[in-house]
Amino acid sequence: MKTVTCTAPVNIAVIKYWGKRDTELILPTNDSLSVTLSQDILHSKTTISASKDYTQDRLWLNGKEEDITKNRRMHNCFRETRALREKMEQADSTLEPLSTYNVHVCSENNFPTAAGLASSASGLAALVYTLAQLFDLNVTVSELSRIARQGSGSACRSLFGGFVAWEKGEAKDGSDSMAVQVAPESHWPELEALVCVVSDAKKGTSSTEGMQHTVQTSPLFQERLNIVPGRMEAMKKAILERDFQSFAELTMRDSNQFHSVCLDTYPPIFYLNDTSRAIIQLVHAYNNSSPDGKLKAAYTYDAGSNAVIYAPKENMREIIQLISHYFPSQDAATYFTDPYNVIAGAPL
Ligand code: PMV
Repeated sequence: MKTVTCTAPVNIAVIKYWGKRDTELILPTNDSLSVTLSQDILHSKTTISASKDYTQDRLWLNGKEEDITKNRRMHNCFRETRALREKMEQADSTLEPLSTYNVHVCSENNFPTAAGLASSASGLAALVYTLAQLFDLNVTVSELSRIARQGSGSACRSLFGGFVAWEKGEAKDGSDSMAVQVAPESHWPELEALVCVVSDAKKGTSSTEGMQHTVQTSPLFQERLNIVPGRMEAMKKAILERDFQSFAELTMRDSNQFHSVCLDTYPPIFYLNDTSRAIIQLVHAYNNSSPDGKLKAAYTYDAGSNAVIYAPKENMREIIQLISHYFPSQDAATYFTDPYNVIAGAPL
């Protein structure tokens, strides 16, 4: 028996992935770009053991066993990593035949699962990375990201720290659809992220279901596909130049466009709630109050109601004070009551 434990961080996109051109291989309709948050605060921790005595692959998620017999995405990750291990075993007969063993996977998130906080990204990234360690795979991180993509699209970006692009690729088989690092976490240490958990309820429409409906029904989505390539270039430039003004405006515009496309889906998908919208207004009011007209903070929302606010470190204290003033705990039942509700100034 062999056992390995690894953690993987959450990533929050600033140019959103929304829409698949191939639902089986999880190939996206557009490039996307995200910031990987600090592992110390938000992560998935996964332990995997492989043993010849195990009779089937099993998964425990946050302490509860899940039925994975129909979980195709997880099996994609098992299949791809086992195939790489098998090749190694064929080349070296002294290796333990781990590729033939069943595995037991135990995974925990230290934040609410499926609340639009990218738990699938960190979870599937942790799964693939831990399998790669278990099997001693000698492959690049981008190659691993290609496997993680087949577990959950956004997971491919959680294999890198810092600023990460997922290049959609052109190949039909998905061989060039993987993540690349745009800049490491050390590149922009003044940038911080504040996670505001507006609700830790499970989201109503899963991203898989939501994006399929969008692709099928939203005319606005077609227009978004023309806009994203220019935004990707502008966002990479903003990051490389540590230009918060451009980074902030692009981030907010892209979040707003993603949620507009959700609204343009028929029937519409609502991920934001009244508190999410009030936080958007507050951030704009805060930016408008800036004496030199410069943006001081940027919000973004994934497929859920929780806000992530990016801002230079020097503004974070003020932002936390504002949020706690306008959204005291009695307004939103879970606000500030648990350690993960507001992750203040999480270093990237
Ligand atoms: O990887 P999924 O299927 O959980 O989709 C994630 C989609 C968004 O979080 C809304 C955007 C993104 O790029 O992460």
